[in-house]
Amino acid sequence: MKVSVVGSGYVGTVTAACLAELGHQVICIDIDEERVNKINSGVSPIWEQDLDELIQNHAGGNLKATSDYESAVMDSDISFICVGTPSDDYGNIDLSIVKSASESLGYAIGNKGGYHVVVVKSTVVPETTEKVVTPILEQASGKQAGKDFGVSMNPEFLREGKAVYDFMNPDRIVIGALDKHSGDVVSHLYDKVECQNELIKTNPRTAEMIKYANNSFLATKISFSNEIGNICKKLGIDTYEVMKVVGMDFRISPYFLNSGAGFGGSCFPKDVRALTGKSKEIGYEPILLDSVIRVNENQPHRMIDLLEEKIGYLENKTITVLGLAFKNGTDDIRESRSVPVIADLLYNGAEIKAYDPQANGNMKKVFSSVTYCDSAEEALYNSEACLVMTDWNEFKNLDSEFGLMKNKVVVDGRRIIPFQKLEQEIDYVGICW
Ligand code: UDX
Repeated sequence: MKVSVVGSGYVGTVTAACLAELGHQVICIDIDEERVNKINSGVSPIWEQDLDELIQNHAGGNLKATSDYESAVMDSDISFICVGTPSDDYGNIDLSIVKSASESLGYAIGNKGGYHVVVVKSTVVPETTEKVVTPILEQASGKQAGKDFGVSMNPEFLREGKAVYDFMNPDRIVIGALDKHSGDVVSHLYDKVECQNELIKTNPRTAEMIKYANNSFLATKISFSNEIGNICKKLGIDTYEVMKVVGMDFRISPYFLNSGAGFGGSCFPKDVRALTGKSKEIGYEPILLDSVIRVNENQPHRMIDLLEEKIGYLENKTITVLGLAFKNGTDDIRESRSVPVIADLLYNGAEIKAYDPQANGNMKKVFSSVTYCDSAEEALYNSEACLVMTDWNEFKNLDSEFGLMKNKVVVDGRRIIPFQKLEQEIDYVGICW
């Protein structure tokens, strides 16, 4: 099938490369010439496991990139909208990029004869496809949705670092179609994908809500585990022992029950806020989801409280921050819990030495006054305490490195330090255990 994909960011590039791998003819559309050139020369514009290889294999063949909507729409039958949906200043979803992409697609569809399908893959709050995207497409094209062109919503459930694998091995595919024909066309794109469950066809607003409910539920599991963990800590109970058994209940499952410094990344915080924003807009106070965010925002401050309990005031003290990325396996620091922790430390006058195997460069753009180190060893040298913020595997092997600290206080926000083994050597504090 002939597909164009608007937006060569994280979701768009993965979608385009995977659709090419499935044998479709794919054209990426992006206004950023640098991204376009990269894709055309076989280089991925973003880092994601296995993505470089896919782009290298298909660039110049069935994967191309352009900044020209007209030619891309003319050369394809289906267009995916995969542009960003950031939060505005109030935490609500900012649809301006989705709107301008819809307008550009609409103009191109207006100049094209024959049926075309537009698929929204960007994460958008319920009603957006029907009430925002479709009217813009209709107005710009001068054509009628459902008759002259089709509209569907097809959410992604891609984990960063595992996005190519998740695209190729989905546990579900959801297609919310405005008109039946477009739903059928979009579902054929996935004919060669083996999905663990059946492909779900529904309407656009349900598809949009499935994505938000999914991420909000996972975020809720984490905040719930953090709350139980905070209570356990006060009672001297190991919350990991508790949640391991709770996760044995098949109705709960053992995943996303790890308590710690909280969730970050480009999806969970933004999606929960966008859903609470939409909910308030339509007159419903989302008490539980507001609490999910509050618990998450509180966890980094707990790290600082525990640190102060151990070493007192922080002014002029050298503190090590191990881990800056929002999770292991990425250089992404968006909404990373290490950001509020560093802000708190700086506010209290501490000197910070930080180390992350991938994310030093990105964090440097946010906090220039931190000393960035090339190894955990260097970061721990002469430090008065250490905060562990990311679950990098290499932190599991730290041992003699702690001996370099002036004061061997370790506050672990990820349950990654082998504290039972190091019991005699370090003064260990777990955030929830
Ligand atoms: C998430 C969803 O998993 C994915 O389906 C969605 O489409 C995009 O958002 P991602 O942001 O890549 O993926 O990261 P994920 O692995 O889900 O972790 C998110 C955050 O939650 C991380 O900061 C992680 O450290 C934290 N987390 C996760 C916990 O604190 N405890 C857990 O038990 C699991």
